[in-house]
Amino acid sequence: MSDRPRVFSGIQPSGDLHIGNLIGALDNWVKMQDTYETFYCVVDLHAMSVPYDPAEFERSRLNTAKVVLAVGVDPKRSLFYLQSQVPQHAELAWILGTIAGIGQLERMTQYKEKSDRSGQNLGLLSYPVLMAADILIHRVNAVPVGDDQTQHLELTRDLVVRFNGRFGELFPLPERITPELGARVMSLQNPMVKMSKTDPDPDSYISLTEDPESSRRKIMGAVTDSDRKVRYDWDEKPGISNLLELMSFSSGRPIPELESEFGDAGYGPFKKAVADAVVERLAPIRGRFKRTEDAEVARLMQKAALDARTRAEATMRLVR
Ligand code: AMP
Ligand code: TRP
Repeated sequence: MSDRPRVFSGIQPSGDLHIGNLIGALDNWVKMQDTYETFYCVVDLHAMSVPYDPAEFERSRLNTAKVVLAVGVDPKRSLFYLQSQVPQHAELAWILGTIAGIGQLERMTQYKEKSDRSGQNLGLLSYPVLMAADILIHRVNAVPVGDDQTQHLELTRDLVVRFNGRFGELFPLPERITPELGARVMSLQNPMVKMSKTDPDPDSYISLTEDPESSRRKIMGAVTDSDRKVRYDWDEKPGISNLLELMSFSSGRPIPELESEFGDAGYGPFKKAVADAVVERLAPIRGRFKRTEDAEVARLMQKAALDARTRAEATMRLVR
């Protein structure tokens, strides 16, 4: 076992992975492999808390795993597996559930939003407890996620304090890791709501595996505002600010430099430059995705689950 600090994060297999997932979370998953011991999951049990098509579920689990690998999660350096193949996650969730307060769970923004949309079920309410179990089962120190997971991570930290207080110091207090820019990438069709893979309008997001023409069309059609200045200002110009963050991430160039280059250039040339940068950034991901064989991914995931079970079982023995 390594003595490097540990990291866990998860992603749901519930639609196309998009550039928001990459900027908010996956890019850090990849980078953190250099300095941390890394554990990553396709969290299929979480995805079952909203309606899904059983026939397509298997396909989307595999596809999500494939995209994560294409982005650069390296199975030689990370333990990357399917959550449902490691039953200790669910067992720890039960135990944490006995010290979790229902009031706090009912106040979760994501619970309120999703239960309005897809009806209530117990899984939706206890979703953050399972997420806490994911994080604690490997006793990790850090969790790279987008901004929308802040509340869930706070709950995890509350559970750690309560658990350790009652039963003895077992779990480290995990830190949330978010990027400075792009922790909340917004929809291209409505810069007031976050980019989401379950958005019914595919023009609202850039999928990590779509063809370049489609990404270009969506960026050229992104909703902006009427004054023609390219300026980074979330209050007055959310659409343009969102595009500036996409371009800064994709090109590696700081925002002030982009503002001085494109400030008066007009929206057309600016959007074209954003599209060029994004397409170039995504090209290697799309290429790797196309070259990866389904059977190979399935095999990797099976093998990783065996290792993960052994690791998770070591924690569960202490918990029990
Ligand atoms: P999900 O797709 O909900 O499983 O999210 C996977 C990861 O991507 C989580 O860490 C999220 O916080 C992050 N994420 C999802 N949507 C966005 C977004 N629009 N901007 C930034 N990060 C995001
Ligand atoms: N709730 C996270 C999301 O929707 C996914 C998730 C599940 C997760 N378990 C996790 C993220 C553990 C980080 C750590 O994005």
